[in-house]
Amino acid sequence: MSKWIASAPANIALIKYMGKRDAARNLACNPSLSYTLSNLTSTVELELVPHLEDSWEPLQTPDTIKLPLNLAGQQRFLNHLARLKQHFGFQGHFIVRSANNFPHNAGIASSASSFAALTRCACQALAELTSRSLPFITEQARLSALGSGSSGRSFFQPWALWQDENITGLDLAYKELLHKVVVVQAEAKAVSSSEAHAKVSSSLLFANRPERATQRLEKLIACLQNQDWPQAFELVWQEFWDMHALFETASVPFGYLTAESMTVLRVVRDIWQREGDGPIVTVDAGPNVHLLFRPEQQAMQQQIAQRLHQFTLLG
Ligand code: DP6
Repeated sequence: MSKWIASAPANIALIKYMGKRDAARNLACNPSLSYTLSNLTSTVELELVPHLEDSWEPLQTPDTIKLPLNLAGQQRFLNHLARLKQHFGFQGHFIVRSANNFPHNAGIASSASSFAALTRCACQALAELTSRSLPFITEQARLSALGSGSSGRSFFQPWALWQDENITGLDLAYKELLHKVVVVQAEAKAVSSSEAHAKVSSSLLFANRPERATQRLEKLIACLQNQDWPQAFELVWQEFWDMHALFETASVPFGYLTAESMTVLRVVRDIWQREGDGPIVTVDAGPNVHLLFRPEQQAMQQQIAQRLHQFTLLG
C-alpha cells in the first residue's frame, strides 16, 4: 500500500496556551485545558512517491473546504512531516494532501486539527513502512505538539489537559456539550497564533500570567467536575479576556476582536445577566466567538442563533 489517510478534530481551549518557555519544542508557559470539537475536522492523506522531496497539495473531497495553504503554512506542515520521518528513521518521500471541513486560519484552531491529522496519518504510514509499532496515543500527542502545540490536545475526547510535556484526556462531569462557533470573519488573520506566542512576552501583564492561568485551571476543573456552570462561565470569560489583554498590551499592541466579535459577546453577556444562565464563551487568537452549551440548552442556543442571524454559526 502506498496511501494512508487520517482525520483529527479541532479543539477549543478554555484555559489558553499562550506564551512558550521553549519555542523550539513548543513547551508552554502554562497548562491548558480544551474541549474537543468533533464536528470540525481536518483530513490528511499521505502518498508514498519516488520523488526527491515531500510536497503538499490540497485534498479534494466532496465534504471539505478547498482553501490552499499559503507557502509558509505548507513549509511548516512539511517540516513537521520531516520531523516525524526522522523520528521513525525513514528516508522516502510523500505527497501530503490536506483539507479542513471548516475555514482555516480563522481562529478555529485549524492548525490543531491539521497537525493532529498529519501526525496520526504519518504515524500509521511510518510505523508500517519501518515495521515499528504504532506509538501510543500519548506519544502521538506529544509528537504532534512539537509541530503545533495545541494539536496535542486533539488526540483526546471530550476534554484534554496539557501540562508540561504530558497531554492526557480528562473525565469531567460535562461529557457532551453542544459547540457553535460564531464566524464573524472567515479570512486569514494578520498575526498567527505562533507569532502571538512570541509577542505576548513583551506585555507587562505577562509576568504573572502562568500563575493566573494555573489557578484558573484548578478552579475550572473543580467547576466542571461539580457542575457549577455559572462559575465555569465566569472563569472562562476571565481567561479569554486575560489572553486578549496580553495582545493589546504587548510592546507593539495587536488584537483580533472586531466590532462584530463585540456584538456577539454583548448578546451572550445580556443573556447571562437576564437569565442567570447561558453558554460558556471563549475567543481564541481570532475574531470568532466560540459558544458551548449544555445538552439541555437547545432552546437557548436557537434563541442566540436568531439574535445573531447576521452571522454564520458552525459546529
Ligand atoms: C490561542 O498551537 O496554534 O489557540 O504551537 O505555535 O502552533 P503553535 O501555536 P498554536 O497556539 C494556539 C493558541 C490558542 C490557545 C490554545 O489553543 O490553547
